[in-house]
Amino acid sequence: MKVYHKVSDLRAWRGSVGNLSIGLVPTMGALHAGHLSLVERSKAENQLTVCSIFVNPIQFNDAQDLKNYPRTPEEDLTLLKAAGCEVVFMPDEKEMYPAPVRMRLYFGALEEVMEGAHRPGHFNGVGIVVSKLFNIVEPTRAYFGQKDFQQYLIIKRLVEDLSYPIELVCCPIVRQADGLALSSRNMRLSPQGRKQAPALYQALQEAKQRILQGESPKQVCSHISDKLNSTGWFQVNYLTLADSQTLMEVSHPQPNSEYVLCIAASIEGVRLIDNLLFTFA
Ligand code: PAJ
Repeated sequence: MKVYHKVSDLRAWRGSVGNLSIGLVPTMGALHAGHLSLVERSKAENQLTVCSIFVNPIQFNDAQDLKNYPRTPEEDLTLLKAAGCEVVFMPDEKEMYPAPVRMRLYFGALEEVMEGAHRPGHFNGVGIVVSKLFNIVEPTRAYFGQKDFQQYLIIKRLVEDLSYPIELVCCPIVRQADGLALSSRNMRLSPQGRKQAPALYQALQEAKQRILQGESPKQVCSHISDKLNSTGWFQVNYLTLADSQTLMEVSHPQPNSEYVLCIAASIEGVRLIDNLLFTFA
C-alpha cells in the first residue's frame, strides 16, 4: 500500500496508472467498519482504490468539534492495508490549503435544511474539499455513505453542476448489532451514553411504522422528538420526513414515492445523525 502526503506525489502516481479504473473513498479517518464497507465496494468495482484521510477544517463550524475530532492515523493505515486498499492520500492542512480558500459554493434549497441549517458553512467546506480531491485523484467512481445522506445529495449536485466525469456510489449504512449507526464520533460516548444511543435508530423505525400506518408525519416526528428529549439524554435538533431527492419536508406522503426520515441529536455533547430511506406504499 502506497501512502502519499503530497498532492504532487499523488498526481505523479495517478499519471503513471493511466486508464485503469480508480475508486476514491474520501474520509476524515478514525476508520471503522462503515468506512471499510466503502473501500470494499470500491475494490469490487475498480482496478485500484484510493482512500483519502483528511480532517477538513473548513467544514467544521465549531472549533471545539474540530479539536475533539478523533484522530487515529496508525490504526487507520493498518485497517486500510488489511482491506487491500492500494493508495492512501493523507495530506496535512498546508498541503490542502496553501492559501485560505476565498471561493464559496452554494447548493440552493438542498443546503438550507437539516445539517445545512444547523451547521452554517458546513456544505461549502465539504464541497470544496471533495472538489479538490476529485481534481487531484481524478477517480472513475467515488464512494459515499448513506449515513450522511444530505452530503451524498450535495456531492451529486456538485458532480452535475461542475460536470465531473465521476460515477457516484451511495453505500448502505453499517450499524452495530443494537442498531446504532457506526460513526467516528461514537467513541466519544461514555458506556452509559453508548447504551442510550440506539434510541435514535429506534426513533426512526417507530416514526416509519406510524407514518406507514397513516399518521401525520409532523405529529409523529414531534411526538417522538419530545419523547427522546424527555429521557434527559438527548437534545433533538430535528426529526423530519423529507423527499429523498430534494430533502424538502413532506406532510402528505404519496404512494410509491421514496422518502427519507432524518434525525440529528446530541447526547453527552456528541452530535449524532442517522436516517432511514423508504418507499411509502
Ligand atoms: P467521514 O465522516 O469520515 O465519512 C467518510 C465516508 O464514510 C462518508 O461518505 C460517510 O457517509 C461514510 N460513513 C460513515 N459512517 C458510515 C456508516 N456507518 N455506514 C456507511 N458509511 C458510513 O463524511 C466525511 O468524512 C467528510 O465530510 C468527507 C466526505 C470526507 C469530506 O471531508
